Amino acid sequence: MKIIDYVDILSALRKNKKIFIDGDVIITPLAKEAAKRHNIEIIKKEKKMRKEIIAGNWKMNNCLNESVELAKGIIDGIKELPDKRIVVLCPPFTSLYSVSQLVSQARDERKIQIFSGAQNMYFEDKGAFTGEISADMILSCGGSFVIIGHSERRKIFNETDDLINKKVKKAISKGLIAIVCVGETLEERENSKEFFVVKRQLKQGLKELDLNEITKVVIAYEPVWAIGTGRTATPDIAQKMHEFIRKQILEIFNSEVASEIPILYGGSVKASNIKGLMAEKDIDGVLVGGASLKPDEFLKIIFYEK
Ligand code: PGA
Repeated sequence: MKIIDYVDILSALRKNKKIFIDGDVIITPLAKEAAKRHNIEIIKKEKKMRKEIIAGNWKMNNCLNESVELAKGIIDGIKELPDKRIVVLCPPFTSLYSVSQLVSQARDERKIQIFSGAQNMYFEDKGAFTGEISADMILSCGGSFVIIGHSERRKIFNETDDLINKKVKKAISKGLIAIVCVGETLEERENSKEFFVVKRQLKQGLKELDLNEITKVVIAYEPVWAIGTGRTATPDIAQKMHEFIRKQILEIFNSEVASEIPILYGGSVKASNIKGLMAEKDIDGVLVGGASLKPDEFLKIIFYEK
């Protein structure tokens, strides 16, 4: 449980005179008195207020015609969405333009929050980087989001925290929302290093972002051992890490940022397990791989409470 003490009041005094709290907290009597004296507002931020994001990462699947068919299948099943729910489709680059057109039309016609995103990008603006894609190129195809630092990029393509940090900064500076992935391998978890690893990924991946830039970031916790394996983290395991991530964000930034940042879970999310995950207080959505390739299954995930 978090404790708000006199030091928190002093730091709020230097900033915006507000403290945002999330979940259960204890406010020490000294802090209560100081907050009153200095007119510091203590605001309780509930999960209900955060955006809920259901994102589909199609990975290297679907040629153009198949992508269009899949996007149509999903869009056809969404007549309306709860207010704070956002759906994001991340097809391969080659289908991004076509999928973006479909989601943009659905946004206009149905007033639903559905967007497209890319699965990766490079941090340079342009030049001799054969095979790479820039933030501007994603934007010009209609993409609004970009997944950065997916464990498959880290592992297969040797992406480092430093490279990820450069990509995150560029993405945000161009106006994209960065879905920044973090998560430990099975070996790291078995050696009780999961919190250490995720802390490092967050600290280095979000290095030197200012308070405005961090509002353009969504975190996705994806334990590597749960990706594509059919082995989902239990809601309890995921919640523990999400709570830890929110705490790290509080330490790197502040309580307002920590209470507002959406933290998604990813790793073998299916229609059959999403409800339990979404019931946890720090899980604000999901990043779905395999199950986002089937319209019926993905629609059940989008409308998980039914
Ligand atoms: P999965 O993939 O749902 O197929 O496990 C998730 C991801 O890698 O984003």
